[in-house]
Amino acid sequence: MSEKKYHVGYTCGVFDLFHVGHLNLLERCKEMCDVLIVGVCDDEYVRVVKHKDPVIPEEDRARILRALKCVDDAQIVDIETTNDKMIALERFKFDVLFSGDDWKGSERYLKTEAQFAELGACIEYLPYTHGISTSGIRQQLSDDEAKA
Ligand code: CTP
Repeated sequence: MSEKKYHVGYTCGVFDLFHVGHLNLLERCKEMCDVLIVGVCDDEYVRVVKHKDPVIPEEDRARILRALKCVDDAQIVDIETTNDKMIALERFKFDVLFSGDDWKGSERYLKTEAQFAELGACIEYLPYTHGISTSGIRQQLSDDEAKA
C-alpha cells in the first residue's frame, strides 16, 4: 500500500534548457504521487504563446523528462490541452494537477478547481524556485555572446 497522498499526478510546462528549478518542481510532485505524468508544451505553444523559438525541440524535451527518476511518463501536449486543464484531465485521468503557486487564487484556477471537484480531482500549488529560469539562461548566454 502506497503512503503517497495521490495516485496519479500531472504537471505541465515547457521545460526548455532543463534546469534545477524544473528538477525541484518535479521532485516535489513525485513526493506526493505514485505516478507522475508530465505534459510537455509543444513547439507551437512556445512560438505562439511565449513568442520565441524553443532551443530544444519538443520530442527531445519529452525524452529528457522521461529519463528522470522522478518522472513516470512525459507526453507532448498542444495549446488547447495546455490552456484547458479539463482536456488534460480527460486525456490523462489524474487525481491531482500540480501547478506553480503564482496561479493560486486566480480566476482561471478557481474555476478549474470547481470543475475538477465535480470529477474528484484537485490542484496542489507548489513553490517556484527563485533565481533560475529558461529565459534567464537564454539572457545570460546572449549577454556572454555580446561581450565576446
Ligand atoms: N518552474 C519552477 N521554478 C523555476 C522555473 C520553473 O518551479 N525556477 C516550474 C514552473 O512553475 C512550471 C515548470 O517548472 O511549473 C515548467 O516551467 P517552464 O515555463 O518550462 O520554466 P521556466 O524556466 O520558468 O521558463 P521561462 O523562463 O521561459 O518562463
